[in-house]
Amino acid sequence: MAARRIIIDTDPGQDDAVAILLALASPEEIEVLGITAVAGNVPLALTARNARIVCELAGRPDMRVFAGCDRPLKRPLVTAEHVHGKTGLDGPVLPDPQMPLQEGHAVDFLIDTLRAEPAGTVTLCPLGPLTNIATAFERAPDIKERVQQIVLMGGAYFEVGNITPAAEFNIYVDPHAADIVFKSGVPLVVMPLDVTHKALVTPPRNDAFRALGTPVGDAVAEMTDFFERFDKEKYGSSGAPLHDPCVTAYLIRPELFRGRHINVEIETTSDLTLGMTVADWWGVTDRAANALFVGDLDADGFFALLTERLARL
Ligand code: RIB
Ligand code: CA
Repeated sequence: MAARRIIIDTDPGQDDAVAILLALASPEEIEVLGITAVAGNVPLALTARNARIVCELAGRPDMRVFAGCDRPLKRPLVTAEHVHGKTGLDGPVLPDPQMPLQEGHAVDFLIDTLRAEPAGTVTLCPLGPLTNIATAFERAPDIKERVQQIVLMGGAYFEVGNITPAAEFNIYVDPHAADIVFKSGVPLVVMPLDVTHKALVTPPRNDAFRALGTPVGDAVAEMTDFFERFDKEKYGSSGAPLHDPCVTAYLIRPELFRGRHINVEIETTSDLTLGMTVADWWGVTDRAANALFVGDLDADGFFALLTERLARL
């Protein structure tokens, strides 16, 4: 089967970094056309820097990385240094990037690529706030029908929020952008906290990363050592949740995941529940299904795949 051609939209973030490494380690299944950085976990200058650090760690200084939107559509930017550290990639000591940032804005790259490639052949993989994607859809509505699929990390239902009692971080940071994307009509696969909180880097799993004995294995182990603090303290969980790698793992082995095709809408006005993904899991409305909302995964299978692929870098 031909490799899936994707654009990764990201706010690295240690878990974004692992998702990018997994994609770049899997050329049989995934061809990364480019990486677009967005403000989220840390400001744009840092997410654009971190994306290049990760590409160089993967041995891909040729990868095209573009800087995108530096703030949400309407809301002030909220960042997550308390989770990811000041740099956004705290944990390992990694060299400053040598590869250049591409000229041009990430949104133009999204629009130009979707217009140039055959319709239905490019998948978008947002791993952070949806600002770049929504801006592209608003500026060039014609590209929406050309997108093959959007596979994103964001939202929560049974797991409720991680940044407010009701909302998950990616959606909360830019709920207006999320609303545009969820109403776009583009086929969506959503990896919410309901599934990503089951993808925990337990000590044996992190030992397996370290046992690779490679710079990539060591860096990933040190990233998860750092960013597990927040979730262990808040949830008492047994390790760091690998949120964003659920997106790229789905492209490689979708059978590892299970969910329901349901309607999901975004709260954009209430101060109390801003950014909540209102998932009609029980089908109590007549709102049309717009997303495969994933609730479960084969965690051992996920980590076996991830470890095997990271060993290739
Ligand atoms: O809520 C988790 C999400 O927010 C992940 O994508 C993480 O990287 C942060 O962006
Ligand atoms: Ca992210």
